[in-house]
Amino acid sequence: MDEYDDDATARAGEFGSRQMAGFKPFYQFIAPTRVIAGYDLIGGIGFEFAKEGAKRVLIVTDQVLRETGLVDRVIAGVEDGGLEVAGIVDGVPQDSDAGVVMRTAEAGHEHGADSILAVGGGSVMDTAKVANVIFVHGGDPRGWEGYFGLPRDDDGQGRPQELAPLACIPTTAGTGSEVSFVAVVKDRDAHVKFQIGDIPMYPRLALLDPESTRTLPVKLAASTGMDAMTHAIEGYVSSEWNPHSDAYAMAALRLLRDNLHRAFEHPADDEARGNMLIAANLAIQPTSSSAIGIAHSMSHACGAHCDVPHGVANAINLPWVIEFNAAGGDEIAARYRDVNDVFGLETGGSAEAVGHALGEHVRQLVASLGLPTRLSQVGVTEASIDLLVDGAMGDACTLVNPRDTSEEEFAELYRLAL
Ligand SMILES: [Fe+2]
Repeated sequence: MDEYDDDATARAGEFGSRQMAGFKPFYQFIAPTRVIAGYDLIGGIGFEFAKEGAKRVLIVTDQVLRETGLVDRVIAGVEDGGLEVAGIVDGVPQDSDAGVVMRTAEAGHEHGADSILAVGGGSVMDTAKVANVIFVHGGDPRGWEGYFGLPRDDDGQGRPQELAPLACIPTTAGTGSEVSFVAVVKDRDAHVKFQIGDIPMYPRLALLDPESTRTLPVKLAASTGMDAMTHAIEGYVSSEWNPHSDAYAMAALRLLRDNLHRAFEHPADDEARGNMLIAANLAIQPTSSSAIGIAHSMSHACGAHCDVPHGVANAINLPWVIEFNAAGGDEIAARYRDVNDVFGLETGGSAEAVGHALGEHVRQLVASLGLPTRLSQVGVTEASIDLLVDGAMGDACTLVNPRDTSEEEFAELYRLAL
């Protein structure tokens, strides 16, 4: 038996891929959302959403999108499929918060809705997800904080109780929230971004059509694209990796490699924008089963305390985290070697060299996308570091980072990124 295992390990080394070694003792992988992707799908949203049981739809969106005309085309599509638009909530801010979630749930009851359709980026979709929880089960967002806490049959031991049908049309290519079971909500008083996640929160339907990102400002395309990049890399190297999520992360990385900069340079390129929607959608899958890492922990704290947009914070923090993690030992570095291979970077050499090659590649990409490369450029100061470290230490993503991270190490990472 030992001999057999040694052979497997030797083969793994030869191929440089950890999937070849051993067998994961346990993992769970869930991807229940029906995804439809392609051209000219928005007009068919009503037809498709009807298949999920929707009849009277509450549309959740933001003011900017309302003015682009996209929401009007969505409304026409809903009605064309024989569904009714029960009401529209269009006041979702850049970061979803408890107030807008409560208003959205109330609007659902006031308008007699039986389903929710989110048209927007991460904050719109996360608002819709948590509003759905409150629409069905009552309470308030903070009360549902945490994972797997939604009501279940049989005194909590049985099947999770269903929420209202939720469909998502993402208008940024980054968050992947349209196929994830997690929502991030900001508690503005407590300066915390907290997470709620459970299986019924998976949207029933995600519609990926490049028309929905046609008016996406290039800066937002860049920062949300870097969020997707961070999901793919952090998901792949997470201590909770598994072969299913690896497959998604690798496919996402290839699409990001070929389309992120292209979509930024050529915003009218439907093919590149469509591929970015799919990349973001694939990149989130590892985060549902293997979770993410400390670039996200650091970025959540930057968003909660200093209002740094999520994708921008990730773009700045990611390279430093890559270098820190990769230097944490051969096993972690091996995961980064796989990522480097996708990007045509150094895969041999020391753990530090592998991390540095990828870190530098990401820094150059971020700069080429016209994004800030320093936290000091986006309102973070030395004086905020203690608070940020506290936030990052308490973030759920810290638990699954491949390398344990102390308070001192977080402080050092923030200083490096400053
Ligand atoms: Fe993210």
